[in-house]
Amino acid sequence: MITEPIHPDGIELLKRECDVIELPPGADETTLLVHADEAEALITRGSIKVTREFIEKAHQLKDVAVHGVGTDHVDLQAAADYGILVFNTPTALTETVAELTVALLLALMRRVVSADRALRAGEWGRKYSDLIGSELMGKTVGIVGLGRIGTAVARRLKGFDVNLLYYDVIKRRELEEELGIRRIDLDDLLSTSDVITFHTPLTAETHHLISHREFSRMKKGIYLVNTARGRIIDEEALIEAIRSGKVAGAALDVFEEEPPRADNPLLSLENVVLTPHIGASSREAMRRMAIQSAEGILKVFRGETPPNIVKP
Ligand code: 8YV
Repeated sequence: MITEPIHPDGIELLKRECDVIELPPGADETTLLVHADEAEALITRGSIKVTREFIEKAHQLKDVAVHGVGTDHVDLQAAADYGILVFNTPTALTETVAELTVALLLALMRRVVSADRALRAGEWGRKYSDLIGSELMGKTVGIVGLGRIGTAVARRLKGFDVNLLYYDVIKRRELEEELGIRRIDLDDLLSTSDVITFHTPLTAETHHLISHREFSRMKKGIYLVNTARGRIIDEEALIEAIRSGKVAGAALDVFEEEPPRADNPLLSLENVVLTPHIGASSREAMRRMAIQSAEGILKVFRGETPPNIVKP
């Protein structure tokens, strides 16, 4: 059973050996519960939570393939309690998410989205005023979380002659030597960075990692990018920081609530760039995630162990 659309090559691979149920567009947790006892394997992308209630009803379920890297929408403890394997596809989307991160940062700093809208609205003259942006070269960029995606972002930013800092609970000695990136504690990263980009998983520790206190430590005029998880940043505090000018601009691919409500103040702010959780949405990454998800499920059906098992 597949909860959201995936690349057809993954579906084709599955159909060679099993029946495939694709939930309809707009399906939600209720839809998943209705079909719970039909699923021997599940491919999930993130918009629909895999809850304990579903797992308890899914009497045939053997495994859950997370089409992507983040598993915060899956009740891992419930899966473990019922002997259900959960695995993800962490290497399939690294570069694609990193490329969007850099794209969003440059679009934000150089006002690309506002400039496009201004030109289409006949406001050419804004090139002499509010469409003047900021240069990335020479700036200090703080990377929160130096895992696969954070590292891929660091490697790409090296080409922009920036000063790289990172905060991570694990010291990455080899990357410090390779990239000249310096490990720093979070408070110092907040107070010295001109740009901060987030690349941690969503956990109890990273939920609202950035809130009012952290914004107060940031330099005035900072740029933020979040292609990780919306709930890492306290959105109410972010909106306040943007309105006050502390945050010069924010590029967000993820939100506390997805999709954001129509009355979310972020949607009406000028100095934000917003995208609908498309971090991994390149054709190439979508095909890799779909095929790796399908391959893992077929392995389990054959009594083999899939790669990248995720435990509570
Ligand atoms: C992907 C995600 O963005 O992989 C992740 O953690 O955020 C996913 O939702 C994409 O939807 C592929 O499933």
